[in-house]
Amino acid sequence: MKSIFLATLTFLYVMASTTAHAQNHGGKKILIAYFSHGGNTRVVAEILQKEIGGDIFEIKTVQTYPKEFNPLIDMAKREQEANARPSLSTQVEDMSAYDTIFLGYPNWWGTMPMALFSFLEQYDFAGKTVIPFCTHNGSRLGSSVRDIERLCPEATILDGLALNGGRSGSFELGSNAARTKVQDEIILWLRKLGMSN
Ligand SMILES: Cc1cc2nc3c(=O)[nH]c(=O)nc-3n(C[C@H](O)[C@H](O)[C@H](O)COP(=O)(O)O)c2cc1C
Repeated sequence: MKSIFLATLTFLYVMASTTAHAQNHGGKKILIAYFSHGGNTRVVAEILQKEIGGDIFEIKTVQTYPKEFNPLIDMAKREQEANARPSLSTQVEDMSAYDTIFLGYPNWWGTMPMALFSFLEQYDFAGKTVIPFCTHNGSRLGSSVRDIERLCPEATILDGLALNGGRSGSFELGSNAARTKVQDEIILWLRKLGMSN
């Protein structure tokens, strides 16, 4: 009777520590922060959270972007040329609580949307690990990793993931088949990073 009780206790302990490991990744608290206009990057962020746990946070701007393609790309281009820092309408309550930040965004004109520049300048990433993931239509991560390195000089930046999401608005990654493929690529990437078995 006593041994059954002990075995049950051991089992419960192992289960509890495994769950904690998945959510905190060895004591490290994970934040998945992303910006998405058309929904592709959101799909990736949500699948990533299912795989690795942690908190999810959407970076949103005060001024919203047009839905139509041409006005959207014009506005994004203008912001990039002006090296703008769009005001953000969402804030991370306590960034000091996290030491690993997955950072998700669409490739806009060869790098991150300027809202990501605002985001990275708003918090202190010194000593943290930043892991980029991006959706794109051919240019993969573009020069975004270099920009992240410049904006977070004291952070460790790990190898990013680039997933082809097609043209914005087409929501290519939203279909069931695409979700399965995204999930497979995320698992492979996490394994390469040593963050999944
Ligand atoms: C303003 C704008 C600029 C873009 N620039 C590029 C680019 O330079 N290279 C690229 O591969 N894709 C580019 N794209 C395509 C997006 O990166 C791609 O559709 C992405 O999956 C959209 O993500 P979202 O649905 O999360 O917003 C651009 C899309 C927009 C709207």
